[in-house]
Amino acid sequence: MTGEFELIEPEEAEGFGDEWEEIDVSDTDADRIARKRDREFSEFRKRIKDADQFKVEQSVFDDATFAAIYKLVQDGHIDAFGGPISTGKEANVYEALGHDETDVAVKIYRINASNFRQMRSYLEGDPRFQGIGNDKGKIVLAWVRKEFANLERARKAGVRVPEPIAVERNVLVMELVGLVEERARRLSEVNVENPETAYEVVREYMRRLYSAGLIHGDLSEYNLIIHEGELVVIDLGQAVTIHHPNADEFLRRDCTNVASFFTRQGLEVDDDDLYEYVTDVEPDK
Ligand SMILES: Nc1ncnc2c1ncn2[C@@H]1O[C@H](COP(=O)(O)OP(=O)(O)O)[C@@H](O)[C@H]1O
Ligand SMILES: [Mg+2]
Repeated sequence: MTGEFELIEPEEAEGFGDEWEEIDVSDTDADRIARKRDREFSEFRKRIKDADQFKVEQSVFDDATFAAIYKLVQDGHIDAFGGPISTGKEANVYEALGHDETDVAVKIYRINASNFRQMRSYLEGDPRFQGIGNDKGKIVLAWVRKEFANLERARKAGVRVPEPIAVERNVLVMELVGLVEERARRLSEVNVENPETAYEVVREYMRRLYSAGLIHGDLSEYNLIIHEGELVVIDLGQAVTIHHPNADEFLRRDCTNVASFFTRQGLEVDDDDLYEYVTDVEPDK
């Protein structure tokens, strides 16, 4: 089922630029909508709360989350919700119909479930979030915008990731990898027919990420999905820049996870070699 893995061509990459972009974490439209609670929003919230796919979760989504979804619908990024793809520790991922009949994935962070102390620790040293402070709301916002920005930066560096489409407060809309009828599988769920090429692709993507100044920080067979022979790196919320005090430790851990997965697939690979390969480029400071 895995086919030949193909790297995306580096020429397709636009380059990530020399500058780290600033990321705005100011008050969002969603917060304003939630405060105003006009009739239209209240009706929308009721409709969404009654929808089958939100029945279980409705109690954990606050008004500002519904307002964020409302804003994304108004802006045309979401047309209709499908079912949940995943309900994780901190976020749920849903299939949805997006702009122009495209399928999208909507990742909704549950603010109350978020471990914001840990989130705060991942923002340390990141030039994009200097002086963010300790406000819980701001930190969760920063987290979701960071995931969006990381996806964008990774994409520009030639790493195959879901294309980021929109972000509003704690809700991220991105390309759905795979189809609604045929969900993309995690590398952990498939029988990898040609582990050599899969390993080469993952290794190259790790190196491209590193050269763009990013370290995934939670890379393993659970955050690599495949669809029609394409390997896609996902879940870049916790990815840190190389300025992070633990950047090297995170990279070593990623290398260990990846090397041990491919060792179990019968390859003779080791984490130190992988680390050497990945860091054998000048990262973008
Ligand atoms: N863009 C996407 N396209 C298809 N499936 C996705 C996408 N993003 C996430 N998923 C699915 O949802 C699961 C959880 O998403 P992930 O970003 O890894 O969140 P978590 O932080 O909960 O691990 C993934 O393992 C994958 O199966
Ligand atoms: Mg994940």
